[in-house]
Amino acid sequence: MIIVHAVADERAVVRGWRLAGESVALVPTMGALHAGHMALVAAAKAQADRVIVTIFVNPTQFGAGEDLASYPRKDLDDLAMLQVAGVDLVVMPTVAEMYPDGFATKVRVEGLTSVMDGAARPGHFDGVTQVVAKLLNQAQADWAYFGEKDWQQLAVVRRMVADLDLPVEIVGVPIVRAEDGLALSSRNAYLSAAQRVVAARFNVILASATAQVLAGMGGSQACGLAVEALGEAGFDKVDYVECRDAASLRTVELPLAGQARIFGAVHLGRARLIDNIAV
Ligand code: PAF
Repeated sequence: MIIVHAVADERAVVRGWRLAGESVALVPTMGALHAGHMALVAAAKAQADRVIVTIFVNPTQFGAGEDLASYPRKDLDDLAMLQVAGVDLVVMPTVAEMYPDGFATKVRVEGLTSVMDGAARPGHFDGVTQVVAKLLNQAQADWAYFGEKDWQQLAVVRRMVADLDLPVEIVGVPIVRAEDGLALSSRNAYLSAAQRVVAARFNVILASATAQVLAGMGGSQACGLAVEALGEAGFDKVDYVECRDAASLRTVELPLAGQARIFGAVHLGRARLIDNIAV
């Protein structure tokens, strides 16, 4: 497994693969890898001759007062997992490599970024699109893999790639859950044992809202009941629970099965958790 820190070195490796006629897949991450990330790697390995994983905690997608400084960093563990998984190249750029002095370019997707996490975390998706545009350009991969836990991020990245004619196919990979249903996330590491028990209720409550919508209840009523249930379950704050079209992210009141998803974001202690379930 090759490890590089400079974009020029990444490009040199990829150029060699391309000359040999090999296909390339990219898995962008912020590290602190778990089985959810490894599912992205497995999907990439199944598709491409060569797999690149990037590890970069991107400062521009964190708001003031968010957890940039404390975001879990586990480079040695991450590298060991990637080696076992048979990854070909790991790119670990510094902040100065990604955003050198004089950096002045923003990449903004309108519309999709104004709701849910875009409303709760102003500027977050501008940071995501800025860094993902760079990571895609740097790797020049055939495919790039993103988890469906961050469904809105996936929708925003797809929009950006289509709008900017970026020559890469974006692949979504289903959510990986713990045995109790909690979606895996690097931020689950912030939860105490007691909070971890409460956290497991998140997916259960979203699933019951989904079942209520399928049984004919309006989306806003089912989501309102879920917000109440989350408060009673012990979550500190609910940013949103919303029933939205899976592609346009517009709210849907009485969706057809398969058309919509129920999305939620909650705070519990230091952790902010997000999840979503297909209706
Ligand atoms: O989902 C993530 O881990 C990040 O938002 C990403 C896509 C790696 C960009 O920093």
